[in-house]
Amino acid sequence: MYSKEQEKYYYDLSRQILKEGDLSAWLSHLPKGPEVESLMRDLEDLLRYHEWRYYVKDDPVVSDYEYDVLMKRLEALEKRYPEYASADSPTQRVGSDLLSEFPNREHLFPLLSLANSYDPADLREFDAQVKRLLNLSSGEKIAYSVEPKFDGSSLGVTYEGDRFSWAATRGDGIVGEEITANAKVIRSIPLRAAFSSKGIYRAEVRGEVLIRKDEFVKVNAEREEQGESLFANPRNAAAGSLRMKDPREVARRRLVLIAYRLGYVGNERGEEVPLPFDTHSEAVAWLTELGFRTPQQPDELKVCLGIEEAIAHCEDWERKRDAYPFEIDGMVLKVDRFDWQQRCGYTAHHPRWAMAFKFKARQATTRLVDVVFQVGRTGAITPVGKLEPVNLAGATISSVSLHNEDFIRERDLKIGDKVLLERAGDVIPYIVKALIDLRDGTERQIVFPEYCPVNDTDEPVKLVREEGEAVWRCPHCVCGQQTLRKLVFFASKDGMDIDGMGEAIVKRFFDLGWLSTFADFYRLPFDEIKRLEGFGEKSADNLRRAVEKSKTNPLYRLLQSLSIHHLGPKAAKLLAARVKDVFELATWEAERFQDIPEIGPILARKVMAYFAEEENIKVLRELEALGVNVRQTAEDLPVSERQGPLAGKTILFTGSLQQMSRKEAKSLAERAGARVLSGVSSKLDILVVGEKPGSKLRKAKELGSVQIWSEQQFLDEVNQTTP
Ligand code: IVH
Repeated sequence: MYSKEQEKYYYDLSRQILKEGDLSAWLSHLPKGPEVESLMRDLEDLLRYHEWRYYVKDDPVVSDYEYDVLMKRLEALEKRYPEYASADSPTQRVGSDLLSEFPNREHLFPLLSLANSYDPADLREFDAQVKRLLNLSSGEKIAYSVEPKFDGSSLGVTYEGDRFSWAATRGDGIVGEEITANAKVIRSIPLRAAFSSKGIYRAEVRGEVLIRKDEFVKVNAEREEQGESLFANPRNAAAGSLRMKDPREVARRRLVLIAYRLGYVGNERGEEVPLPFDTHSEAVAWLTELGFRTPQQPDELKVCLGIEEAIAHCEDWERKRDAYPFEIDGMVLKVDRFDWQQRCGYTAHHPRWAMAFKFKARQATTRLVDVVFQVGRTGAITPVGKLEPVNLAGATISSVSLHNEDFIRERDLKIGDKVLLERAGDVIPYIVKALIDLRDGTERQIVFPEYCPVNDTDEPVKLVREEGEAVWRCPHCVCGQQTLRKLVFFASKDGMDIDGMGEAIVKRFFDLGWLSTFADFYRLPFDEIKRLEGFGEKSADNLRRAVEKSKTNPLYRLLQSLSIHHLGPKAAKLLAARVKDVFELATWEAERFQDIPEIGPILARKVMAYFAEEENIKVLRELEALGVNVRQTAEDLPVSERQGPLAGKTILFTGSLQQMSRKEAKSLAERAGARVLSGVSSKLDILVVGEKPGSKLRKAKELGSVQIWSEQQFLDEVNQTTP
């Protein structure tokens, strides 16, 4: 469709325009005339080209942000010189995500886009425009509902007669793909919802399907293990999951729908009826009551009085976006009053009563200048890409993991390539792909080393790649670097979780000769540490306490800290639940592992090999002598086998607890042998009620079979007899 020359031309032109500064300054340099007209044609072609790369080839060469910037420039020119605008300009349509595998389904009303901006000044302009539309004086303060702009896949969910009926993706906004079976497995989509309590027969609820950021990391890790291609970001993971053929697979992904709008409501005769609320925020609160996961007041949904309060709230969220469990790419401002929304009206593309404020870009293009190799704790050799430094959402990125040889081959990465980089939330940066069309022939192949590349001794170690594995490994470390990685992991959050014992400190103690085996963590010379530069009495003491605390970890934690290849937290728990102490594993033979269906033969072999090494047993014995727990604890047992006053019971908390946090309550309940559920159902035995309980209490009472306890009652029960 496009020749190589054309592609290069469009890419260079895009870069050139993207380099231009401030929009209004740029416009002021473009007086009316044939030059501007031809620039507008070029911009149209350029955007069509990028759309084609994105939607048809599924292989964009600019980031979403850069595409938006280009689109904005064309929009600005069209506004200024409407006489030059084309009727079929790319600014005139909304994007589509239609694939062909699912049946099409028309939405009850169109799913529109949102006007958006990266600049607070545009929000002030939006506010002024709303006031003009409503004939309000400029001094008046409008109440805006301000919510996160969830970065997932939009979904319309339709109910008829209080029952979930069907669900469709956005599609082109008019017609979407019906993915009802997949939507049914999303737990936050209630299958029944009492719309009839307000006289409604038919309702379409709109929301965004999301995957939690931590779940996304897990899904990718699993895919990496299995040699499948990785999802570039949580949005792709959610969208991809929603379109899987097997709903059971979808269920495993634990998707969430966050409902942000009650759109259409109608009666049994198919007539649209007015919404039974005055404001959007009230409608959303009602959806919460009906059982939907919605943006919660007062923080996820805040009704802000006046545009300045709204802007401040947006900026506040931009600062804390990384700590939020879901990926969000901005905030949405909506005029809260429905009558005002109606008076503002719509364009063909978006409502005039809403606007998105987008956060700074998470994608950028840069150049891969070199590849270096590092060794990991199980000897895996990881290639790391060195990049021309580039700013990504506020952080300067100059290196990125390339995972393994297959990752490089799949993307056909070469040194010197221009690459598209993305950083999704607190997820580490990631090369989405090389921009292969932009090569000029000077790019070089990435050569994988044959010998351990970090080893600085005279004894070369040949790397090995086991069958079915994606990584090359150094099979026996002679230089100490692998040991250092193991020590770093042992102390980390995923290991023994020794607070304050981060990578830099472990490395320092290692270089000082204080750490060479795991047991050394429990023999550290704290008297000397407090005299080290950067330490003091207090910080050394904190560190000592954190080390002490780790001694009481449950057995599974110790197991997962040992850097036994393939032994993650899941397998560690399975093993810990079946032995009285760590040494018992040394007696296990292959058949014993076979009794555990989740544990495969490869892992079994690795564990046996680990416990066959005398040196490893010696370190474990030392750990035991130093007071580290090596025995099975109550926490190592699956909940169903736990003892305690609440053994075998299911429990749930509602309302705000006064004497402990939810987390503490949960952990107390689990230690007492209970299983904590996430919602009220006939499976629930006990509901503990704090202050201001919500609909859960009502539902539990309706069921009649649930015991209702106060917080104090709960504490009395668990404290009496918990060991
Ligand atoms: S309201 C008529 N609220 O953003 C306006 N949309 O760029 C309806 N989105 O298609 C949109 N979070 O999928 C709204 N809190 C939120 C949202 C949100 C994410 C998505 C939605 C929409 C897209 C527009």
